Amino acid sequence: MIVDFISELKPGDALDIGAGNGRNSLYLAENGWAVDALDIDENALRHIDEVSRKKSLLVHTILQDFMRHETPRQYDVILCLMTLHFLSQQDIKLAIDWMKVHTKPGGTIVISGFNSRNAIGARPYLFSNNELAELFTEWTIIHYEDDSPSSILSKSTQKIETYHVSRIVAKKPY
Ligand SMILES: C[S@@+](CC[C@H](N)C(=O)[O-])C[C@H]1O[C@@H](n2cnc3c(N)ncnc32)[C@H](O)[C@@H]1O
Repeated sequence: MIVDFISELKPGDALDIGAGNGRNSLYLAENGWAVDALDIDENALRHIDEVSRKKSLLVHTILQDFMRHETPRQYDVILCLMTLHFLSQQDIKLAIDWMKVHTKPGGTIVISGFNSRNAIGARPYLFSNNELAELFTEWTIIHYEDDSPSSILSKSTQKIETYHVSRIVAKKPY
């Protein structure tokens, strides 16, 4: 999904919240973006540092709990993929408000997360239908889907498992 939307944008500054192993940060950097990759997992960021050093890519890693992150910067693109569902509903709202403030006018936010078609399992929060879209009523919604089946490698079983995911791509008004 990220490939479809990002390839249409002129490269600029991007923030990847919950960057994980960096699949999206590294993809952006390979396509000319200057990326800040933020995560609370030191090992994940070390991996991103190693790959970006080897490939001479512009990725700046930030070891930080997103809910405590402060910066005066605004970005052309903010990604938060498969990460928000780790937060409480109240923190999700605060996190999205933070992302909106830190997106440049005309910039884009891309969010995905597990939704309520999945068993709750270890995840504290699952998005209900239309919930993400309703948080962006004043923005232009470029793409929205609920209940899109997504295949992801499960860390616990080491098998490819299918999950239901909500995704949004929204553009900030000028
Ligand atoms: C399922 S992974 C998704 C990684 C990546 N976004 C992707 O789509 O491949 C979720 C990531 O969010 C990070 N994370 C969870 N809570 C966080 C927080 N409060 N602040 C920063 N990162 C967080 C985890 O460490 C993990 O790397």
